Amino acid sequence: MITQVLVLNGPNLGRLGVREPDVYGRATFEDLAERCRSTGRKLGLDVDVRQTDDEREMISWVHEAADARIPVVINPAAFTHYSYALRDALAMRTAPLVEVHISNPAAREVFRHTSVVAAVADGTVAGFGLVSYQLALQAIAELVAEQAAPAVPSVPSAPAAQSAQAAP
Ligand code: DQA
Repeated sequence: MITQVLVLNGPNLGRLGVREPDVYGRATFEDLAERCRSTGRKLGLDVDVRQTDDEREMISWVHEAADARIPVVINPAAFTHYSYALRDALAMRTAPLVEVHISNPAAREVFRHTSVVAAVADGTVAGFGLVSYQLALQAIAELVAEQAAPAVPSVPSAPAAQSAQAAP
């Protein structure tokens, strides 16, 4: 079964390619979107990549994902560092959630060291350029597979237990 995934991108990420290329590289947003979609195809994920500069629109997409139980990869961009509204929306999630960054915010200005969304995500991938998104999608595929897997029995089955007892 194909799993749908939303890859959500916050403010200024639509400017990739021209935006501070020393920090964010020369790949465009369309390059990023294509990389995510092709990674998704290999992982059995149907990836929908979106970008907005608008906090209200971003929150409405997070609500949409929560209502439909859709896993999310999110690069909240600058919202990462101050948007309690986005954090509260993400806290309502009903499916796996991975935070992603192109750069490594921990190695940059002090205001980037705080993520107000990290604590409500399953995990964060940062600092690997576009590869951060590929790793995040891989994490989503693993988390979805784990949730779909039948529970492992915690006690041995009866015949195994009997033969274990019978052994000297
Ligand atoms: C970013 C890092 C943020 O600090 C910054 O505001 C961004 C991009 C990243 O992907 O490296 O816009 O999220």
